Amino acid sequence: MKFFVDTAEIDAIAELNDLGMVDGVTTNPSLIKKSGRDILEVTKEICDLVSGPVSAEVVALKADDMIAEGRKLAEIAENITVKVPLTWDGLKACKVLSGEGKMVNVTLCFSANQALLAAKAGATFISPFIGRLDDLNLDGMDLIADIREIYDNFGFETQVLAASIRSANHMSECAKIGADVATAPPGVIKAMANHVLTDKGLAQFVKDAESAGIKIV
Ligand code: E4P
Repeated sequence: MKFFVDTAEIDAIAELNDLGMVDGVTTNPSLIKKSGRDILEVTKEICDLVSGPVSAEVVALKADDMIAEGRKLAEIAENITVKVPLTWDGLKACKVLSGEGKMVNVTLCFSANQALLAAKAGATFISPFIGRLDDLNLDGMDLIADIREIYDNFGFETQVLAASIRSANHMSECAKIGADVATAPPGVIKAMANHVLTDKGLAQFVKDAESAGIKIV
């Protein structure tokens, strides 16, 4: 499973990228707002840092305007993925932009039917939102499994990009189901390293090393 990092914070991306943990980046207007940076400027910086796909989201609502914005975003760098919302206009924009050879990420997906339409429209990635479904007492992970099954049934090449990930458990569940990609905030990716037994075991090893006077360098 590929790891995308869901942020527009350069320092956080750089730290994970240095560890080989970043196969791509996703942003959205809320994350750009949080960064306090100009969208074109910060997106260019991310694209210079990361060689994998970098999703930059359009803000227009009409297909023609989304297409114009998508073309402008795609000029930033070769690894730009134009992110469009899963609306009828978004699907039209997806069809045109993917027809031009641009990578397209169709976002705000909350049902298997929406994912089916995105694949038919030539999406490179479909972004089903797990956390926002869980927030409504629905099961976001079921949606990932349904889309995986449907795409496999018909050999759709659209990649399942699990999004709205809120916990380390979401990451392992996505990997078990076979999501192609999971995009998560830096804190969630780092939390995957945590285990209470690791902390407990290490504390004992440190204590024993100190009491035995073990020194290596
Ligand atoms: C993904 O592309 C989205 O930007 C993101 O995962 C949304 O996550 P949220 O529901 O935590 O805002």
